Amino acid sequence: MEIWLEKLFQKLERKFDAECSRIGDKIPYWTEDGEYKTDYAEKNMNWWTNGFWPGILWQMYHATGKERYRQAAEGVERKLDKALWGFTGLHHDVGFMWLHSAVANYRLTGSTESRNRGLLAASILAGRYNPAGRFIRAWNPDCVEEGQDCTGWIIVDSMMNIPLLYWASKEVEDPRFYYIAKNHANTVRRTLVREDGSCGHIACLNPDTGELEKILAGQGYSETSSWSRGQSWILYGFALSYRYTGDPVYLNTAKKTAHYVIANAALTDYVPLCDYRQPAEPAYLDASAGLCTACGLLEIADHVGAEEKRLYREHAERIVKAIAETCCDWDPGRDSIVQNCKVDYHSTGDRQTDLIYADYFLAEAVLRLMGKEFLIW
Ligand code: GLY
Repeated sequence: MEIWLEKLFQKLERKFDAECSRIGDKIPYWTEDGEYKTDYAEKNMNWWTNGFWPGILWQMYHATGKERYRQAAEGVERKLDKALWGFTGLHHDVGFMWLHSAVANYRLTGSTESRNRGLLAASILAGRYNPAGRFIRAWNPDCVEEGQDCTGWIIVDSMMNIPLLYWASKEVEDPRFYYIAKNHANTVRRTLVREDGSCGHIACLNPDTGELEKILAGQGYSETSSWSRGQSWILYGFALSYRYTGDPVYLNTAKKTAHYVIANAALTDYVPLCDYRQPAEPAYLDASAGLCTACGLLEIADHVGAEEKRLYREHAERIVKAIAETCCDWDPGRDSIVQNCKVDYHSTGDRQTDLIYADYFLAEAVLRLMGKEFLIW
């Protein structure tokens, strides 16, 4: 084991141990004055990031065997039932919520209750499929601005949610979920991935035909720019779709996007900008995009020969090292690790901030590099 990785893992464990004692089965999103003051179980049970804390806990349970991580993760999973049974308010991001909680639990402990939660979440995601347009729709009317109709909208983030469908298909030994995931991936590739490996965030499709009507900037700078976290969703998401389908088109899509991202991230010493085509000032960074990219590069590395593997692993290491050295708060007395993230290029309320999913992807990247990860997707 390389020493820098061992040291990094020790720092992660110290930090997550301390956080687990402080927050247990509360649901964190971001800090206020270095503290997870708001419990999303109270603020918004449907919030798309509510699975990332249990995701961290299951990764740490798998890596260390510490029971306290498992207990806290199970506590969050039970709370999420309110969202699952509430149904209204759920969205395209249910994969992020239940792959990291219930499905992770089932995969590690065999809990049938957790398996059922996962299958129910998969059915909710599959229920969002539009067979005429061959896509899984994003959001609900109350999530978009007044006057906007999102019936035909798809977003790149969805690529990280469809592994829930691949899992469900295998679990119930029925290809229905698989075909929904594959048809959706094909629509995302056709409409949002550009020739040069960059991508848009939102595609507005005709809901009756699936025909592309327009692209929207979404959380990126503009409709023709490239939002860096969206790039990482595409890169990692297509690599995962390759894992589950073996379709070489998906691996090539992941690689093409990876090459674009690597070239751009290198220009800012491997801590990505919020958008690779944003103006020079303000120079917003998004470390969460870097860490999700690192995990995606390591996923690609799992599917290529030895020579190519080096390319992806080497760049994943550069990203993790750069972020661990320049963007992290390692003080166990304070909550959150990764700083310098951004939710949305144009939002004014969010400063350069910490985000719970950045910490999740840091943990996953470090564990992947150590060969100690648990595949949650
Ligand atoms: N899924 C929303 C985001 O990446 O911010």
